[in-house]
Amino acid sequence: MLLLSGLLLLLLLFLTPEGTGFWTLLIPILIFDVAVLYYIGEKRSRELSSIESVIHAIRKDMITSAEDIHLDKGLKSLQSEVKKMFLRLQNDINYLKHLERVRSEFLGNVSHELRTPIFAIQGFLETLLDGAIDDPKVNRSFLEKANKHTENLNSLLSDLIDISMIESHEMHLSFRYFKLFEFLDSVLQELLPRASAKNLQLKLHPFREELKAFGDKNRLKQVILNLVENAIKYTDQGSVEISVEEEEKSVKIIVKDTGIGISRRDLPRIFERFFRVDKDRSRAAGGTGLGLAIVKHIVEAHGSSVEVESIVGQGSEFSFRLKK
Ligand SMILES: Nc1ncnc2c1ncn2[C@@H]1O[C@H](COP(=O)(O)OP(=O)(O)OP(=O)(O)O)[C@@H](O)[C@H]1O
Ligand SMILES: [Mg+2]
Repeated sequence: MLLLSGLLLLLLLFLTPEGTGFWTLLIPILIFDVAVLYYIGEKRSRELSSIESVIHAIRKDMITSAEDIHLDKGLKSLQSEVKKMFLRLQNDINYLKHLERVRSEFLGNVSHELRTPIFAIQGFLETLLDGAIDDPKVNRSFLEKANKHTENLNSLLSDLIDISMIESHEMHLSFRYFKLFEFLDSVLQELLPRASAKNLQLKLHPFREELKAFGDKNRLKQVILNLVENAIKYTDQGSVEISVEEEEKSVKIIVKDTGIGISRRDLPRIFERFFRVDKDRSRAAGGTGLGLAIVKHIVEAHGSSVEVESIVGQGSEFSFRLKK
């Protein structure tokens, strides 16, 4: 500005005829300066007030889309930065809202699942105390039922502990090579009584006994137990078969049943916490819908993912891969 005025002064001195007074030259320059200063001041104040009104609108939640953000013409690059900041803020807020929803849904589900067995146990105990304890026809079965509900409570609590450990990244895995056949065979031995109680055939297809897989055996046991338990729970007749396919760098473990199957609509949701296709059937079998959520987390911690194929009325096939 100063430089411009100086140049103008020199130009006027050069152009004006001799004898023109100093003030005659200075006054137009001063008027010019004032005009320029006024113009710049106006422009700055317009820009500042456009920034102020955008900040105010964001603070008052009056802006819902980045497209609604308009700054003064001269602030194009600032406008694009503000838009980016707004989008980032919006994403963070949406994520926090989502977390809050998930958290309160989770708490609601947990309280509901805890209340059901506690009410049942309370009911059996009260009936026994009210006199049923002396009735040999019911006293034992009431105690057994109450006991069954405490077992369910116990397994619900261990599932909850697992979920919270996994989600807070406190579950430490210890990866080792182990013999796959020996491992699967021993897990299946534990489940044989359950399968025979339902007249189901539970079999492990033979494969190379020396084949080794890489992973955390304890956590993988939980995965196989969950998948095979589900297969048994949701199959009324036929078989549950476990097979292993050897691939170039991995092994694929497949759990296949001839059960009720899962509809296309429900398939994407079965890994959600507490999701059950048929709540009554699942609850009657002692399920809370946490099993597959835990399976998914553990398999993902092995750098893999669970695949499912299912046809309603024909059966389901769950599979995942491990490094070999
Ligand atoms: N092999 C299967 N066949 C048919 N439906 C299945 C099968 N496995 C899982 N499902 C469906 O997916 C739902 C979620 O399974 P998940 O293992 O998470 O829960 P759950 O078995 O009901 O209870 P939990 O495992 O906590 O005891 C089940 O309730 C069931 O509806
Ligand atoms: Mg289950």
